[in-house]
Amino acid sequence: MTAQLNTRRLGATGPNASSPGLGCMGLSGVYGHTDDDQSLKVIHAYLDAGGSVLDTGDFYGHGHNEMLIGRALRDRDRDQVVLSVKFGAMRGPDGASLGIDARPEAVQNFLHFSLQRLGVDHVDVYRPARLDPDVPIEETIGAMAELVDKGYVRHIGLSEVGADTLRRAASVAPISDLQIEYSMLTRTIEDEILPTCRELGIGITAYGVLSRGLIGGSGAIGGGLSFMPRFQEGNREHNEALVARVREVAAEKDATVAQLAIAWVAAQGEDVLPVVGARRLEQVDSMIGSNAVALDAGDLARIDELIPRGAVRGDRYPTALMAQLDSEK
Ligand SMILES: NC(=O)c1ccc[n+]([C@@H]2O[C@H](COP(=O)([O-])OP(=O)(O)OC[C@H]3O[C@@H](n4cnc5c(N)ncnc54)[C@H](OP(=O)(O)O)[C@@H]3O)[C@@H](O)[C@H]2O)c1
Repeated sequence: MTAQLNTRRLGATGPNASSPGLGCMGLSGVYGHTDDDQSLKVIHAYLDAGGSVLDTGDFYGHGHNEMLIGRALRDRDRDQVVLSVKFGAMRGPDGASLGIDARPEAVQNFLHFSLQRLGVDHVDVYRPARLDPDVPIEETIGAMAELVDKGYVRHIGLSEVGADTLRRAASVAPISDLQIEYSMLTRTIEDEILPTCRELGIGITAYGVLSRGLIGGSGAIGGGLSFMPRFQEGNREHNEALVARVREVAAEKDATVAQLAIAWVAAQGEDVLPVVGARRLEQVDSMIGSNAVALDAGDLARIDELIPRGAVRGDRYPTALMAQLDSEK
């Protein structure tokens, strides 16, 4: 299968971005041991194939992920890259979660350290990882808009917020895109969030496209995710059986189930950018190959029948983390 990355615009005001984007979280030990030399090869393979989107968070590997990307960019053209960076998730020295901080002064502080770790003078899309319940979104976005004016940030994004927050944020400054989970198994955004984004000209950066490896993964990380409801005993078997239902469709398309799942997200609209957590070189090739999988309305309807909306079993996150999702309120 020959395929190339193609280009989509992130919302009405955002940058052009290659599709799929590369989600870098899994390259910092989040899903178990990783080897930096191997991870650098993964990032370089993606960039050398014409990829532009590197998605990260300052808390991924507690700064490790940004430093890894900084290393990867040293001998590559920074201007080719759309650096999408999340901030706001606080961690203690033992790695424990300490909540979210999106106060205006915290935004500036987080960005300063990110720029150092990444070795760049600006990020392309900057976004609070979660809504800070103690800070009105208008204040966070206002502070980010000042960083845009000063040239440190090109575009403002959001992550896992609901329709009301989207509207309030967009009333302060242009929002390029909302990063949120969206896949064949997770379609809650279709009710209210996706239509609101479309009304406001905000793009979608879809993550969890492979449901963290539940869809078409090697199974290598599954055991380490047993704290996630969808991987818990009983739920996991049910969910894997759901995914198995589309194997035949994938085979007919000469694709893997993972490629079908990436193509499914890309087929939801030009305003939806799949971001995939490839961790190995063959997964980079495979995600690029997903662009050769053409899905028409008939294919999408068939997949709908095989995996009906809401058929997945288990919440997206454990209860404490679900409570942090403005998008689920
Ligand atoms: N905004 C947010 O709240 C948020 C939350 C989570 C993630 N994200 C972003 O989204 C990115 C992607 O999320 P994710 O890594 O959790 O989920 P994902 O892309 O759904 O799943 C990643 C897993 O899928 C498997 N995989 C990757 N490429 C594959 C391929 N071509 N074929 C088959 N299997 C493949 C790998 O598992 P195996 O090792 O088992 O093969 C990999 O560890 C992250 O890196 C991060 O940048 C954002």
